[in-house]
Amino acid sequence: MGKKIYIYPLWLRIWHWSNALAFLLLIVSGISLHYANINSPLIPFNTARIIHNITGVFLSIIYIGYLIGNFISGNWRQYFPVFKGLLKRLIIQTRFYIYGIFKGEPHPYHVSEEQKFNPLQQITYLSVVYFFMILLIVSGLFLLFPAIAPHKIFNMGGIWPMAVLHAAVAFFLSIFMVAHIYLATLSGKIWWEDFKNMVTGWHEIEDNEHEQDNNQNNNK
Ligand code: HEM
Repeated sequence: MGKKIYIYPLWLRIWHWSNALAFLLLIVSGISLHYANINSPLIPFNTARIIHNITGVFLSIIYIGYLIGNFISGNWRQYFPVFKGLLKRLIIQTRFYIYGIFKGEPHPYHVSEEQKFNPLQQITYLSVVYFFMILLIVSGLFLLFPAIAPHKIFNMGGIWPMAVLHAAVAFFLSIFMVAHIYLATLSGKIWWEDFKNMVTGWHEIEDNEHEQDNNQNNNK
């Protein structure tokens, strides 16, 4: 049995799973609204609208809680990579996912308290939570309260660019979610290890892990 480290505090786990549930509801209701068809709706239009609006507001509120939790706990630091040598580390991690993993090579980076994400996770989580989710939430709130939306964007009506942006970011984040779930199955000894960690908060470090470490000092 290896050493256990606590890397997902309770507030983060509550945010994460509420956010994941909200995403699922938003995707299903959002697809139903986007491809609305009176004759064969996935979900009746009005029901989908109500689910989407309430869940969207819920997601925005817990997102603010997530930001506050991140800044108070210092968890935000985990998301910011050291730029020196970043490209090389990203290539190493990508090569592992598309080649090394199929050859049974060891994971190039390992989880520690100071650095729980590999370089690819850092870059994707950073852009997802600090850029794309902000775009999604702000464009969604403008669609919910059109009176506060910009009146004109590039001399066009302000609403439809918001709708296009909202749908485009939502499609992108849906793809992120699929990739995120797939990649989460790859990081442990058994496919559900990471899911269990995100439920309990604890991560177990294998005895031999740090010997094979390419790691951790990203600044090398
Ligand atoms: C059913 C859907 C989802 C599942 C099963 C899932 C699963 C997981 C798992 C197992 C982890 C821990 C491993 C890791 O750090 O990569 C994790 C972390 C994370 N997930 Fe998800 N996820 C889901 C949806 C989402 C969504 C929709 C987002 C954001 C839009 C998201 C953002 C994150 C972030 C930012 C972390 C790292 C949190 C931290 O440690 O600070 N996840 N997820």
